[in-house]
Amino acid sequence: MAVAENEMFQRRFDKVNSIIEKHGGKVSNLIAILQEIQAEYRYLPEEVLTYVATALGIPPATVYGVATFYAQFSLKPKGKYIIKVCDGTACHVRGSEKLRYMVREKLGLDDSKDTTDDLKFTLETVSCIGACGLAPVVTVNDHEVYGQLTPEALSIILDQLVAKEKSGDGTSCANSDADADADADADADAATDSTRAAGTDVPGEGC
Ligand code: FES
Repeated sequence: MAVAENEMFQRRFDKVNSIIEKHGGKVSNLIAILQEIQAEYRYLPEEVLTYVATALGIPPATVYGVATFYAQFSLKPKGKYIIKVCDGTACHVRGSEKLRYMVREKLGLDDSKDTTDDLKFTLETVSCIGACGLAPVVTVNDHEVYGQLTPEALSIILDQLVAKEKSGDGTSCANSDADADADADADADAATDSTRAAGTDVPGEGC
């Protein structure tokens, strides 16, 4: 490899190197290493998995085996905002399917496509997250928990995220036709005030 190419390669993996070093370059810390890498990239790129295997001195198949075994890891790029619609029993009975349908329609997603082309949004369906009393429940990036949602309220929350992106870095969500005007902002505030779970912590008890 030419010197310039080698430097580019090293820069590309500087962050990965620092994560590996932080964990002492130990194979026993492989899961923690992959978790941090995924937090950095929002998924586990193939070339990074190969690089990690080389750096740790283990076969790539071992790293792939771990990355594909655990549901927490994704080998596909995910959006900046991961919308998780709970479809556990309580949420299903209280209309989670309508929420999923609305998100799909609004973001242009379907069975074969769960992430928008601009990598802003990913839609996931999850089983009970332990907040059945708030059903139907949706989370955004696992931190924001919204309960007793209607499709209309969830639509406003998505509008708010799209508006935030537009005002934050000038990029837009190519697959959303949401209007990010001042009225939507006001509606979004009202919607989130009424639906966001207090403290946004997910209770530990399931249904
Ligand atoms: S079924 Fe959705 S939180 Fe329990």
